Amino acid sequence: MKTPVDTGVDQASRGGAQAQGAGRFRVRAMNGDDLDLVMAIEERAYPYPWSRGNFADSLAAGYDAWIFADERGWIGYAVVMWVVDEAHLLNLCVPVELQRRGLGRQLLDWLMADVAARGASSLMLEVRPSNLPAWALYRNRGFKTIGVRKAYYPAGALREDALVMARSPGNG
Ligand SMILES: CC(C)(COP(=O)(O)OP(=O)(O)OC[C@H]1O[C@@H](n2cnc3c(N)ncnc32)[C@H](O)[C@@H]1OP(=O)(O)O)[C@@H](O)C(=O)NCCC(=O)NCCS
Repeated sequence: MKTPVDTGVDQASRGGAQAQGAGRFRVRAMNGDDLDLVMAIEERAYPYPWSRGNFADSLAAGYDAWIFADERGWIGYAVVMWVVDEAHLLNLCVPVELQRRGLGRQLLDWLMADVAARGASSLMLEVRPSNLPAWALYRNRGFKTIGVRKAYYPAGALREDALVMARSPGNG
């Protein structure tokens, strides 16, 4: 696993991470003190949110966990796990009240530039096909479906498949 490189930097200083026309935002590592607010956002954003324990375990495991903020406050967070040179995007979330303003795309672009700069050969993720906003975001940013995990997610009394998507993180 690659070590998260820094905290408290802004995206413009990370070189190549800023999407054309994107607003500036700050990035720092998530820590345990953030989890009350993370959970408040998470539980409103997902029909099947992560538990607090999922976040705590991710921090304990040393996964990349980022808080993104601008003058409005938090604009999102993300968790990325590394498996050798593959980066796996485990969670990307924009608060409900800030969605559909281009932030998810900007944060995904930052994450791609960050893992590319640290040597990732690919960025992978899983998404529910019923999560149309996320699926569209990933497709529009060049992710291709490379597999399906059958009945991967809880979905009421049933289970829902996960689409496994990936792209090379370099070259925007
Ligand atoms: C998925 C998510 C991160 C997108 O963030 P966002 O800031 O709302 O997305 P953006 O405004 O940057 O939109 C980028 C693209 O995503 C797609 N998209 C976003 N919201 C959409 C919606 N409601 N319906 C359809 N497409 C949508 C579009 O392709 C959009 O591009 P466009 O505006 O040019 O059409 C956000 O909806 C979210 O946090 N959802 C809850 C958590 C989640 O599901 N995370 C993904 C887990 S795999």
